[in-house]
Amino acid sequence: MYKEVHKSLLDWYDKNGRHSLPWRLTNDPYKVYVSEIMLQQTQVKTVLERFYFPFLESFPTLADVASSDLDDVLKKWEGLGYYTRAKNLHQAARQCRGLLPGNAEGLMKLSGIGRSTAHAVAAFAYGEPLPILDANVKRILHRYYALKERNEKKLWECAYRLFDPLHPFEYNQAMMDLGSMVCLHKDPLCDRCPLGQQCMGRNDPLAYPEVKIRTPKPVRRLNVIVYERNGKYALRQRISRFLHGLWGFFETDEAAVKPSRLLGHITQHYSHFTLEADVYRCDEAFDEEGFEWFAPEEIEALSLSRADHKALALLRYNS
Ligand code: ADE
Repeated sequence: MYKEVHKSLLDWYDKNGRHSLPWRLTNDPYKVYVSEIMLQQTQVKTVLERFYFPFLESFPTLADVASSDLDDVLKKWEGLGYYTRAKNLHQAARQCRGLLPGNAEGLMKLSGIGRSTAHAVAAFAYGEPLPILDANVKRILHRYYALKERNEKKLWECAYRLFDPLHPFEYNQAMMDLGSMVCLHKDPLCDRCPLGQQCMGRNDPLAYPEVKIRTPKPVRRLNVIVYERNGKYALRQRISRFLHGLWGFFETDEAAVKPSRLLGHITQHYSHFTLEADVYRCDEAFDEEGFEWFAPEEIEALSLSRADHKALALLRYNS
């Protein structure tokens, strides 16, 4: 029953797919794994132009990740955001001693590798006949089967139903491309879709899945204070779960700050809240525990959160 749909999808992919993406030109499971982790929350263009190649240059194999300090891995991840990904990658590298398991079942046991990522790596590197279920594929399935309800279990059933086990690599890559080029979130281009008449949601694609009522993100307001002493600045490495391992300037919720100079304002969007902060510079005595003093050129070598990078830019701009 799905034979024609598969043929139509694979023909479309043959003509329109992004075949030259570097992680599609390799069957090295480590390279595929790195790409999948980076692409989880970051756009293809950003990963391709700024992060994928430099990361692989620093860590050519998973064994290199396993034998490196977490700080060095985080440094290469700097700017990509969602640093838990880098920590999990490092942990997974140590769990499997630098050698990835040869199937999805084994991959799924490693830190940070969920079912869809395990299927992606296994399908792309090993040709294992397994479907993926990322956000793009979910949207296609919701529309193809006219599913209003967001139900993970049902979506997996549909993912297996529509899957082409004879062409796991091409089918999965094609679905990703279809989701990012045709079956678009707001403006689906149904007249260009190879799934065409078979799609049960074709007459009203925006109805599937039903719209999520979004609650606005909470705003967290605080003050970032850049303490200065003899041309050096105070930073500490975070030990909290959030932004763990990244360095940053002093932060406080307190409204009144010591005599200091306002450098400017920064905004940083995180997945669950938005940070709004005024950034100050202060040369009053400062002896908070955990802080160390760094010259500007020494700060370059640290992994900073994005917000702290913005604060640093304000400091440079005002110096
Ligand atoms: N996002 C996740 N995996 C991808 C891939 N292989 N190609 C393009 N985008 C992706």
